[in-house]
Amino acid sequence: MRYARTCLVAAVALAALPIVGRAADPGPAGADQNKAIAALRGVEPSTAADAAKMIVDGRNTFRFDTFGDEAFWGDTLQLHQGVAKVSPKTALAVGLKVDVDALPKSLQSDLRHGRVDLDSPATTLALLRLNAVVGVTGFFDRGGNMKSIGIQCALCHSTVDNSFAPGIGHRLDGWANQDLNVGAIVSLAQNLQPVANLLHVDVKTVLQVLASWGPGKFDAELFLDGKPFRPDGKTAATLIPPAFGLAGVNMHTWTGWGSVPYWNAFVANLEMHGKGNFFDPRLDDAAKFPIAAENKFGHVETPPDQDRITPKLAALHFYQLSLAAPAAPAGSFDKNAAAQGEAVFNGPGQCATCHVPPLFTEAGWNMHTAEDVGIDDFQALRSPDERYRTSPLKGLWTHQARGFYHDGRFATLTDVVEHYNTFKGLGLTPAQQHDLVEYLKSL
Ligand code: HEC
Ligand code: HEC
Repeated sequence: MRYARTCLVAAVALAALPIVGRAADPGPAGADQNKAIAALRGVEPSTAADAAKMIVDGRNTFRFDTFGDEAFWGDTLQLHQGVAKVSPKTALAVGLKVDVDALPKSLQSDLRHGRVDLDSPATTLALLRLNAVVGVTGFFDRGGNMKSIGIQCALCHSTVDNSFAPGIGHRLDGWANQDLNVGAIVSLAQNLQPVANLLHVDVKTVLQVLASWGPGKFDAELFLDGKPFRPDGKTAATLIPPAFGLAGVNMHTWTGWGSVPYWNAFVANLEMHGKGNFFDPRLDDAAKFPIAAENKFGHVETPPDQDRITPKLAALHFYQLSLAAPAAPAGSFDKNAAAQGEAVFNGPGQCATCHVPPLFTEAGWNMHTAEDVGIDDFQALRSPDERYRTSPLKGLWTHQARGFYHDGRFATLTDVVEHYNTFKGLGLTPAQQHDLVEYLKSL
């Protein structure tokens, strides 16, 4: 009986899916949903129903909710006017992704046969009208003109599996979009004066800063401290991290700003500029966060009936925690070497003292000083606790393109292991280092 009722819950959850904005969802997401439902068998039906609803609602928010941020990106910065001039080729080149499941079959066929003009900005608008550009929503008037634009979490924290063509495929939620050139996209905004005013610089400087980020990076602290560059002159932007594999992990972001719901509220209010409430008096520290303190970013208040963020936080959190890190594909690492490498990780490499399996971060306050990991403290000092968070290592294989550590300073996993070997004087042999790298690739 319980089994049957749980299946009914499953059916209800599946039936709810089309409401999230897609006619059908036959791709891997649907398969994930079936897996989730199968795993829920045996759970109290009411609990399973709540969980299924949270996952569906949270996914909807993660993929499609702008939180009203079109008032900023479109109405104020006029980003839509810049985007309207961009061809699909250029859009794909700056790392925007296209959700193939949002494209009608006829359009898929036209695309396959080269009958779609990928050099025409009109095609970009058509894709936006279909809600097919991952993490970006165009708002259109009755005449079909784009009048505003908003962004979603999925812009940075989803990619596609390229199953249709490079940059076009099924959504992969939680994966860092390593191709996304956020700076190049924001530069398309026709009115960057409000950003210049906020940072007390001119528009030319804003454009220079945006150009310095490069693909796969964004500077979440720029609007707080106004520091675009490190002392060595390189960009202060950090890598976009994955948003999967976070369940059980205490502190989040590279520098441990807080919990997942803390950071979700932070991003939705302060980075995306949605309409909500946000409280963090740590941002009143004018010496550390001059821009945030001046603008009272730690005290964002919106009346409850207009708050488009707070009511979404619970399901959004739940959905993120439901995103497990994907397993490394067979053949992407050497199995035998990885097994040897696990012993190095847990033994002479001393990695497991901080990256405690199976979370691969510490249970408890998972934070370290810059000296603990042998790097400079510039980025750590831009955060409240002035430390780096021990990165949870699951799914490392999905984000190897832009390097490792918060700023991608180590180009390869071999470089990471060499760093620890030298800095900590571990005395690992070349064979041990090789095996350790294969293990990291297998996580
Ligand atoms: C413009 C790109 C961008 C957008 C949009 C964005 N993020 Fe992020 N996200 C980042 C970057 C960059 C970081 C790392 C910030 C840092 O460490 O300072 C991050 C960090 C995170 C983390 C911490 C991950 C970890 O390893 O602990 C979570 C969780 C997260 N984002 C969730 C979200 C959610 C939810 C949304 C939508 C409400 C969102 N992000 C929107 C770029 C983005
Ligand atoms: C003292 C605690 C500590 C020890 C010991 C340690 N790590 Fe780390 N690890 C960290 C911290 C903190 C970071 C985040 C650094 C940053 O964000 O710049 C990190 C980051 C990493 C990353 C980058 C993850 C990413 O997403 O870019 C890898 C890979 C890694 N560690 C592997 C290892 C290996 C392999 C060992 C053993 C040889 C090891 N760590 C030992 C604390 C530790």
